[in-house]
Amino acid sequence: MRLAINIDHIATLRNARGGKEPDPIEAAKICEEAGAEGIVCHLREDRRHIKDEDVYLLRRTVRTKLDLEMAATDEIVAIALEVKPDLVTFVPERRQELTTEGGLDVQADKQHLQDVIKAFHQQKIEVSLFVDPVPAQIETSKEIGTDMVEIHTGEYAEAATERDQRAQLARVQKAARLARSLGMGVNAGHGLNYLNIARIVATQEIDEVSIGHAIIVRAMVVGLGRAVTEMGELVQSR
Ligand code: PXP
Repeated sequence: MRLAINIDHIATLRNARGGKEPDPIEAAKICEEAGAEGIVCHLREDRRHIKDEDVYLLRRTVRTKLDLEMAATDEIVAIALEVKPDLVTFVPERRQELTTEGGLDVQADKQHLQDVIKAFHQQKIEVSLFVDPVPAQIETSKEIGTDMVEIHTGEYAEAATERDQRAQLARVQKAARLARSLGMGVNAGHGLNYLNIARIVATQEIDEVSIGHAIIVRAMVVGLGRAVTEMGELVQSR
């Protein structure tokens, strides 16, 4: 299974101070050096974290695979076709949401998505559709020519009981098997963390996971003590 890292949170923190740090480009490099096999960023319509210049720079610096998450709007599609990431992942986008809240309604947006997929294929860019673990969405995704789907694991991740987690896992696994049987690549993501990843890893049909929040949180938890020690040494060096 491949691990791709979403670096949007690095940009969120940078933007909070309006400066250059932390730098998402440097973060992507650290992720790759640590073994990540892909870098994911979401260029949102409101540019709340990743900005246009980040995407252009990442295109030049990412050595593994650049996956640009995006809504299939004219403005972002035009930028993506110019940047030429290795993969684009279409996601639904609502301005009010804190993070992506659910999968695309591929059936409702079938014609538009099909046209956009064609435009990316003409530029030899692979396409993934972020979908809920719902068979009809997976089947329609295949019908309109996507290379892969990313199965939304949010409900699995948020399951409050063991019983519910198993039920949500079964939905994810069934969707993954269906997508694989239809010949599509299978990614998964949203809400995955150090505890709930094991059952996803055990799902053979999933090729790749996309993880952001849990890894950035973990980095702060394991790195905070060291950061304080380093500053403490400087302060006490007088
Ligand atoms: N996949 C998609 C399509 C997403 O929108 C996100 C969140 O940006 C992720 C994966 C990563 O989710 P998380 O930050 O919860 O790991």
